[in-house]
Amino acid sequence: MAGVNICGLAKIYYIKGAPISALADVDLDISDGSFVTVVGKSGCGKSTLLRLICGLEPMTAGEILFNTEGEFHSRVGARVNMVFQEPRLMPWLTVEQNMAVALIREKDTQKSKATVNQFLDMMGLKKFKDAYPSQISGGMAQRVALGRMLCYNPDLILMDEPFGALDAFTRRNLQKLLIDIFREQKKTIIFVTHDVDEAIFLGQKVVIIENGRISRQVLVNLPYPREIASHAFFQLREDVMATIMHEENINIERKFL
Ligand SMILES: Nc1ncnc2c1ncn2[C@@H]1O[C@H](COP(=O)(O)OP(=O)(O)OP(=O)(O)O)[C@@H](O)[C@H]1O
Ligand SMILES: [Mg+2]
Repeated sequence: MAGVNICGLAKIYYIKGAPISALADVDLDISDGSFVTVVGKSGCGKSTLLRLICGLEPMTAGEILFNTEGEFHSRVGARVNMVFQEPRLMPWLTVEQNMAVALIREKDTQKSKATVNQFLDMMGLKKFKDAYPSQISGGMAQRVALGRMLCYNPDLILMDEPFGALDAFTRRNLQKLLIDIFREQKKTIIFVTHDVDEAIFLGQKVVIIENGRISRQVLVNLPYPREIASHAFFQLREDVMATIMHEENINIERKFL
């Protein structure tokens, strides 16, 4: 497991020399073993935040430190793995082989077989282990991607709208599965979504990003599994929505004044 401490993070992109501020002044503490969701409108900087944490891109300013068992270190010391909106499976490999890709460096073949089996079982994919990606549904493919990520045994899991392309029923099932994984395996998870309900259903803390800045962090003190129709859930949803809409109104006013 790993916690993350982000301080003064900024990212400026350049398109034909013109600067685009994707993130600015981001300070964020993610405790070891916690589930944090990041919500905000399209283009607000959610994916950029994950890419910087993952080390896929350099930051313009600031610092990202990983905290494992009380010790702070740069990303090199932490095992970080990312799941994307699309499952990114290799079409020429079977379900089982796609999951085993995460264990390519494991020399003990018996051990890696046992690990793949464990997660095939957890994802309910045992019957489909010999199927190719073209032979399974979108929800199943996303379960393969989740299983592959778990085989990798990361300290920190980054998820960028992983259920965004799925229908509502499959999505709810995978959300429940992810909560079970979080509670059983005690992983640190940072989950990006633009769906406020999903953010509150999953996260212990909801981080709201607006125009590259964190506008608010909302703690969700509801026990798992959460009841989406409960009054407490409804109140939180209204609260988060009001924050996002308030900012939208300010932006509209700015535009027309
Ligand atoms: N490689 C890039 N080069 C230039 N600008 C970029 C690049 N990647 C992202 N941006 C810009 O940074 C800003 C934030 O983009 P980002 O992808 O982080 O948004 P997002 O919140 O993930 O949006 P969405 O919900 O649509 O996925 C946008 O203005 C985008 O145009
Ligand atoms: Mg994105």
